[in-house]
Amino acid sequence: MAISTYDRASEAARFITMQIGTRKPRVAVVLGSGLGGVADTVTEAVAIPYGDIPHFPVSTVEGHAGKLIAGSLGGVEVLLMKGRFHFYEGYAMPEITLPVRVFALLGISSLILTNAAGGAAKYLAPGTLMLINDHINLMGDNPLQGANDERFGPRFPDMTNIYTPAYLDIARAAAREMDLLLAEGVYLGLRGPSYETPAEVRMMAALGGDALGMSTVPEAIVARHCGMKILAFSCITNIAAGMHSQEITHSEVMEIGERAGKQLAELIVRIIPRLA
Ligand code: HPA
Repeated sequence: MAISTYDRASEAARFITMQIGTRKPRVAVVLGSGLGGVADTVTEAVAIPYGDIPHFPVSTVEGHAGKLIAGSLGGVEVLLMKGRFHFYEGYAMPEITLPVRVFALLGISSLILTNAAGGAAKYLAPGTLMLINDHINLMGDNPLQGANDERFGPRFPDMTNIYTPAYLDIARAAAREMDLLLAEGVYLGLRGPSYETPAEVRMMAALGGDALGMSTVPEAIVARHCGMKILAFSCITNIAAGMHSQEITHSEVMEIGERAGKQLAELIVRIIPRLA
């Protein structure tokens, strides 16, 4: 018989517990494209390559080194995913979201998700950080499809306040203290991997999508299902297709991500101690 997602997540969690010893991570952070630099601010770190963790997929995207890092960030024990799994890589939704379920089984109750995204809203220039206050799932799939396992959460989880309102306030306050312009808006999740056409971008902006990307939504849904509190940020790496004349390249996305990533790291370090 096929091994259940719960058993897969449990085996991975047991393995990670053995690797990190007495550490008790309280917050997990998922780093998006070009944002791996946040990991440099973690002290006394233990790194576990994804390939060593039972049932973890292996990340195939350039700019997504695949390892899990346990250490201290802003004085708080964290577990950091340097590199994530995407739907467009060909993995199924339960596979790309397995790490989130592992976090839940490890007793982690706060999750920070980050991503690189295209700005469809006019106020989102490249280099802007956007606090995600809601999302639209246009990925054509849902990670909770199939039999529900009540050990994780309910069949029909509520999504009203998926991005924890108290966490939004904490992020706004931290950005104000830093004099950082933190935009706010709706993240619209797409399958990818092709970027959008100009006509698609016009449609998605009309639908209410401010930032467009290819991740985060499945992880947020699964985290909410598991009862975790969620905070999420988009780093706007480019203006979405057709909103100006330039074409989009992955290297541009990576480069802007690295620059804005430094500010995002500072913001996250400031926020983490306030989440618990
Ligand atoms: N569209 C979708 N995903 C993205 C983009 C974009 O313009 N930029 C970075 N990720």
